[in-house]
Amino acid sequence: MKDFTIKLIPGDGIGVDVIREGRKVMEALAEKHGGIRFRFDTLPWSCQYYLETGRMMPEDGLKILADCDSILLGAVGFPGVPDHVSLRDLLLPIRVNFDEYVNLRPVKLLKGLSSPIKNENIDFVVIRENSEGEYCGKGEFSSVGTPEEKAVQNSVFTRKGTERIIRYAYEYALKTNKTKVMSATKSNALNYSMVFWDKIFAEIKEQYPQMESSQMHIDALAGYFIMHPERLEVVVASNLFGDILTDLGSAMLGSIGISPSANLNPEGKYPSMFEPIHGSAPDIAGKGIANPVGTFWAIAMMLEHLKLNEEARLLMQAMEKVLAEGVIRTPDIGGSSKTEEVTEAVISAICAL
Ligand code: NAI
Ligand code: MG
Repeated sequence: MKDFTIKLIPGDGIGVDVIREGRKVMEALAEKHGGIRFRFDTLPWSCQYYLETGRMMPEDGLKILADCDSILLGAVGFPGVPDHVSLRDLLLPIRVNFDEYVNLRPVKLLKGLSSPIKNENIDFVVIRENSEGEYCGKGEFSSVGTPEEKAVQNSVFTRKGTERIIRYAYEYALKTNKTKVMSATKSNALNYSMVFWDKIFAEIKEQYPQMESSQMHIDALAGYFIMHPERLEVVVASNLFGDILTDLGSAMLGSIGISPSANLNPEGKYPSMFEPIHGSAPDIAGKGIANPVGTFWAIAMMLEHLKLNEEARLLMQAMEKVLAEGVIRTPDIGGSSKTEEVTEAVISAICAL
């Protein structure tokens, strides 16, 4: 029997629902395999935890997470706790301190789903920088309460941080037999950070002459996502740009509830973290109708990371089978099923495959 320790952070709102369902799917996969076991440790870190303790996670939170095989997170954030507190005191410290500098986000139209855009030839990945950039958290408020009141929000782009994410994008393209890498920039307006980003992109692309390299300003690229998704293969973007582009990407797949996100520490020195890209959706929390597909897909990425490739494939196949049948689906993608019903259907498909 091979054991895997998985730390679960359901978080808030629908995060709790989708992680509960994700766990059921993993247990079904382990049972089918017979030789693997997932040891789950569920952590209560959330906005509720913050209201009770004054912290989003305990002081030694990172130590608690450090020795696991992977982290699976639902979503954090809920009315009553400012969003910048919940994000900056839980999610971002994990990404940064565990050096999960790659945020890998596939944008692929699954079988059985239809896109709100006409061109359904959608199958690319966004590789988002995940450790610095616009989300470095540096800046200041000054002259508060006076007519000169001011907020300054800084970005930090280091050579190390920029080089490694762009290089990762090219290596990922090579590994997955892709031929094109597109860099998201905005160096016309951001005359330090994005000029620097472009300079490093230009240096690294020289090292991959077999690849077709191009760059586009983020505003034009957002339009390009809609007009020509078929021309995209690998998109590399800074922290903020990648964040925005991937919500757009998920909407192109029919719902923000569909897309997964892998926060990777490629060197394997620290655990990697997997999550759906959506938030805690307070507007539908407690209704039992959250789409669990983004979480199931994130689990498939986690299984691949754990070298359980057969289980990852099985889960994706089961999910696509249920979606293609078109009967069991949550309201965000045009159905009327409950979250739990989707899980049951996916588990039945796993057993049948
Ligand atoms: P959101 O992703 O939670 O919701 C946006 C819209 O999409 C809502 O109408 C929601 O009902 C719908 N939606 C989201 N996930 C869905 C799912 N699985 N199935 C069906 N419908 C779904 O984004 P929003 O409203 O901007 O943020 C809500 C809270 O979540 C905030 O506190 C925010 O800070 C937090 N958040 C947390 C993230 C994380 O933990 N990684 C990411 C984004 C937001
Ligand atoms: Mg986002």
